Amino acid sequence: MDEHISEAIGRPDLIRLDDGLVCLRFETMKVVSALAAVRHLLDTGAVRRGDTLVDSSSGIYAYGLALACHRYGMRCHIVGSTTVDHTLRTQLAVLGAHLEQMEPSSDLKLDQKRRVARVQEILREHPGYHWMRQYHDDIHYLGYRAVADRVHEETGAGGLTLVGGVGSGASTGALAHCLRRHRPGTRLVGVQPYGSVTFGSEHVTDPDIIIAGIGSSIPFGNVRHDLYDTLHWVAFDAALTGSVDLLRRHAVFAGLSTGAAYLTARWERGRSPGRTVVFIAADTGHRYVDTVFARHRDAARIEDLAPREVMTPDELVLPWSRMDWNRSPAPSGASL
Ligand SMILES: Cc1ncc(COP(=O)(O)O)c(C=O)c1O
Repeated sequence: MDEHISEAIGRPDLIRLDDGLVCLRFETMKVVSALAAVRHLLDTGAVRRGDTLVDSSSGIYAYGLALACHRYGMRCHIVGSTTVDHTLRTQLAVLGAHLEQMEPSSDLKLDQKRRVARVQEILREHPGYHWMRQYHDDIHYLGYRAVADRVHEETGAGGLTLVGGVGSGASTGALAHCLRRHRPGTRLVGVQPYGSVTFGSEHVTDPDIIIAGIGSSIPFGNVRHDLYDTLHWVAFDAALTGSVDLLRRHAVFAGLSTGAAYLTARWERGRSPGRTVVFIAADTGHRYVDTVFARHRDAARIEDLAPREVMTPDELVLPWSRMDWNRSPAPSGASL
């Protein structure tokens, strides 16, 4: 029996969709990370019950942190991006989290920079607040250890490939790191949008909206570039095709980063028959009903899509590129 809803929400489902294709499906992925991070801060005495935890978020981390604060009796202050929607805003208000939402801006880079500046300002005004630093503090890796153990136990003994979108880098980085302790041959495939500095795609602009939660316009300390074997860059339209096909073919209703990961996972499975490819579904499809699922007739046939193989990020092209990253270090614009 769970003691709090956050524990149930943080426990993912493992679903075998097809031969060698497994979905690691979360309702809201960051709950598992925020819970373990807050527990660690309390256990080590870095914070005490009743203290205020602050961070900026574009969506699902805000919800994760608000639930963790509810669970452990902490106050929660979120500087939210313009992408925080009405449903989340309302949930946060009732949960007792304080949300400051940035002015509407179509420039998500500017939005990200403004949020970081606002967090600094809040910390100057309230030196007692604890800044969670989800993009930089590796306590956000802790919660994924139990998830990795389960993936290991339930996927048998063969070769394993993990595919997931890279935002802060905590989920893919932590899962691969922990899985490699059991199975050193585990391959890690990261998924990025175009226009992100993290793996050097900032020079290619996706004309449609970006994929919420993955990629970044500023360097993140939690991305460990040398864990990734392969990178895929997926544009909005190709991710839409993935999300729609995942619902149509397998009845899994998940978000846009999941659509991009599913598209990528199918491709990687085709290249390496015999391995089990596990892809991460970080959130459900509800936030994407209007922008993605209502446009299901626009989706291409997934079989008709294939990535362009590139040797360096300079060669990246829309709508889908693939590159052997070979556990290289961070590109120059992405290191701190
Ligand atoms: C929908 C979605 N997918 C994927 C990710 C990437 O997760 P991580 O920050 O662990 O790299 C995020 C992070 O915010 C997200 O919101």
